[in-house]
Amino acid sequence: MGRRIHIVEVGPRDGLQNDPANLSVEQKLEFIARLEAAGVTRMESGSFVSPKAVPKMADSAAVFAGLTRGGRAKHIALALNETGVRRAIEAKADEINFVLVAGEGFGRRNQGMSPQESADMLAKCAPLVHEAGLPLSATISVAFGDPYDGDVDIGVVGNLAAQAQRAGIAELALGDTIGAATPWDVRQRIERVRMEAPDVSLRLHFHDTRGAGLANVFAAVEAGVDVIDASCGGIGGCPFAPGATGNVATEDVVWMLHRAGFETGVDLEQMIATARWLEGVLGHGVSSALSRAGVFPRG
Ligand code: COA
Ligand code: ZN
Repeated sequence: MGRRIHIVEVGPRDGLQNDPANLSVEQKLEFIARLEAAGVTRMESGSFVSPKAVPKMADSAAVFAGLTRGGRAKHIALALNETGVRRAIEAKADEINFVLVAGEGFGRRNQGMSPQESADMLAKCAPLVHEAGLPLSATISVAFGDPYDGDVDIGVVGNLAAQAQRAGIAELALGDTIGAATPWDVRQRIERVRMEAPDVSLRLHFHDTRGAGLANVFAAVEAGVDVIDASCGGIGGCPFAPGATGNVATEDVVWMLHRAGFETGVDLEQMIATARWLEGVLGHGVSSALSRAGVFPRG
């Protein structure tokens, strides 16, 4: 058996939060059901943030209420503050992913917090999640570069990771919110975070804004990371990051990994079919390569 790489599907959250289309709750639920049918076992199904800040996620409570439970998929809720964590617990999220921020400029605009304030907020919120008995993970957003401030010091990322470990998170994602990372940065930041937070497992989150997305996935996997975020069709981006584009596409990541002998548990043909279905629902094309080119070699 090949080494297993776990894909966390973020299309229903990172993907839809920035798409011009307005999906109904039913359409979101169908998207989620199709992803689960394609073999996804962990996905970000919504976020509990201010509806004024991100109107597309305003219906996340209704989405969580409508989920079919008991299948293979665990549904992650994103939260950035105490209100969000409480709402996510109430919505019966299977897991909570908290967002830390590594840059001051983005932090102020995205969540009204400095990097240290986001770490303090996590320390305050973690006990609530632990008391609820839910797994807690965190993502360090703009961990490779801030759209307003430019380069992000690797020391800031390491320091946030250490604080996240102290808060008792199980897993930490390094988020390249704006597609600024190169494979060499990826390796360096992984090494640094492993030194500062040796007890947390790592997940990597890439946007393909500048064409280095799959190369960055390769670097992460080569560095021993087993968990990768991706979005069906490569949709998405952050409304607070000018020019942001989608995540690495799930089908592109899965194809590359399967070709190399890794296992993901994702059915590639079904994921491609879901990306093509999504184009119809969104009313525009998606950016993934596999949804255009198809699988090689043909089954
Ligand atoms: N869910 C729903 N509403 C929330 C909320 C949450 N988690 N947190 C705060 N609010 C509401 C407050 O009730 C208040 O409402 P009002 O204006 O009607 O009184 C308003 O939002 C402002 O609250 P405040 O505590 O002052 O927060 P803020 O203005 O500093 O905003 C965030 C902080 C985190 C809530 C906001 O910046 C946000 O939602 N950002 C989301 C960014 C995001 O999702 N980015 C993409 C993913 S990384
Ligand atoms: Zn993202």
